[in-house]
Amino acid sequence: MAILKIAQMGNPVLRRKADPVPVKSIKSPMVQRFIDDLVETMREYHGVGLAAPQVHESLQVLVIEAQENPRYPQVPNIPLTVLINPTVELVSQDMEQDWEGCLSIPDIRGKVPRHREVRVRAYDREGKPLDFSAKDFFARVIQHESDHLQGILFLDRMPRLDTLTYLAEYQRYWVKE
Ligand code: NI
Repeated sequence: MAILKIAQMGNPVLRRKADPVPVKSIKSPMVQRFIDDLVETMREYHGVGLAAPQVHESLQVLVIEAQENPRYPQVPNIPLTVLINPTVELVSQDMEQDWEGCLSIPDIRGKVPRHREVRVRAYDREGKPLDFSAKDFFARVIQHESDHLQGILFLDRMPRLDTLTYLAEYQRYWVKE
């Protein structure tokens, strides 16, 4: 396994629409190894999610996991989730604002409105179809990560930039909110 280099904002790979993974190749050693590396990289940098374009691979693969995360101490646990070629349907028109960060935009946080519930259709790492609903924090992370597959960053989703905050100021003034 390997820890991959994270693409930073400004890198064109983050603004490209990622290519779907041919379903027949999901179980190939190359794709399986890439998924392992993506998971290892997410854990190394304490992300709660990571999308393939963030490690310079323009592919529709994302991973999500939240447990005991020092970057996000007060978030609920999410078991390791691997989504390939996901489509995300915005089920609830109900929106909620909350803080987000991104490993490709280091040391910046901002409040982003997200739909409270989504329905996800995707393939798992075995190539099996998935179809499930997610709410609240899990739905937020899914929207953030699947946006990466469309070349969209969380800053693009902020209707106003007045909550944009450096991490040190976030921890000083806002973390207890
Ligand atoms: Ni991100």
